[in-house]
Amino acid sequence: MSRSTLGIVMNGVTGRMGYRQHLVRSILALREQGGLALPDGTVLWPEPVLVGRNADKLEALAAKHGLSRWTTDLDAALADPANQIYFDAQLTPLREAAVKKAIAAGKHIYVEKPTASSLTGAQELARLADAAGVKHGVVQDKLFLPGLLKLKRLVDGGFFGRILSVRGEFGYWVFEGDWQEAQRPSWNYRAEDGGGIVLDMFPHWQYVLEHIVAPVRSVYAHAATHIPERVDELGKPYQATADDAAYGVFELEGGIVAQINSSWAVRVNREELVEFQVDGTHGSAVAGLRECRFQSRAGTPKPVWNPDIPNTVPFREQWQTVPDNGDFDNGFKIQWELFLKHVALSAPGTPFAHDLWAGAKGVQLAELGLLSAAEGRRVEVPELGRGA
Ligand SMILES: NC(=O)c1ccc[n+]([C@@H]2O[C@H](COP(=O)([O-])OP(=O)(O)OC[C@H]3O[C@@H](n4cnc5c(N)ncnc54)[C@H](O)[C@@H]3O)[C@@H](O)[C@H]2O)c1
Repeated sequence: MSRSTLGIVMNGVTGRMGYRQHLVRSILALREQGGLALPDGTVLWPEPVLVGRNADKLEALAAKHGLSRWTTDLDAALADPANQIYFDAQLTPLREAAVKKAIAAGKHIYVEKPTASSLTGAQELARLADAAGVKHGVVQDKLFLPGLLKLKRLVDGGFFGRILSVRGEFGYWVFEGDWQEAQRPSWNYRAEDGGGIVLDMFPHWQYVLEHIVAPVRSVYAHAATHIPERVDELGKPYQATADDAAYGVFELEGGIVAQINSSWAVRVNREELVEFQVDGTHGSAVAGLRECRFQSRAGTPKPVWNPDIPNTVPFREQWQTVPDNGDFDNGFKIQWELFLKHVALSAPGTPFAHDLWAGAKGVQLAELGLLSAAEGRRVEVPELGRGA
């Protein structure tokens, strides 16, 4: 068995996503399982170099996980030929410049979403990466959630008949930071730092809808800043200049209507932090992060409106659960495995299903969602070609 080492420059690993999901749950988990086995018996061994601004934090992080490679010098990490992949989970506005440097250094690119702050910027990154002949990918983790994999299984099996509509509810209460510490970083609530729930969540809804139901053809969004003042990590009050809730209506190909509420100012009264209900002529399903419940046409009750008596129908109990029928790994890790295999095995020029062109579509939907919200009108979503 031969072992092939892949050096990965990981920028932004002190952050929530970079640390927990990408370093610990993906790259370190891959190392704990002995690397990633390829069909020919070779084992890919990911060798991260932790990059960031704060040497003390990086050193502590590396020591905690038995890693030796860390640096505050991104250029030096990119200049090292042992490093073949650049990964970016920095806060969004910093991504474009760093990715451009990495492309210029000939590295394969894997990045968090949104890939850039504007559609123009996102397309430029995809174009530059193609021109340099490097492979590229964007995180689209929600596709690999157990609940959404089960939902996709129902779609692929023809369960729904003709799909009519999708209703999504995402969100939870994010504390303001005064009497309880906020559980999200303060930049999320400042537009000038790349914050806002439209820019954060619409890229996710774009690929979830396109891959599982149908591509988005138009958007109407109402964005709001429900909590205008918050308190930051240092205990200092600041103005929330970005939207913290977005109420979106998306028209999908085939006339399907998707309506998705995203909010950091809502209290959870559902089974999971995100839930999508899909209604079709032959059945309906509600998918969350892990579970998916369904009700078929034959099992559909016939409720009668009568507020004069207490409800007699246990509606929630009339749904069945989609079985696991297998094991589910962490979604971020699954996608890392796909990308590493793409880097190791696919011929130059082979597109990756979740590449920077796909990432640009997410940025496009966020941009058009914000335009819709600003102008109070429905906006068409033009199809984006590769190389557009
Ligand atoms: N896929 C997902 O579900 C998901 C979820 C949340 C966030 N994200 C994306 O991941 C990226 C990081 O988000 P996060 O929630 O981990 O943020 P975070 O604030 O926890 O981490 C940000 C990282 O960027 C680094 N950084 C570099 N320069 C900085 C600066 N000037 N100010 C602040 N931080 C700086 C920080 O050190 C840290 O490592 C964002 O682009 C975000 O859109 C993706």
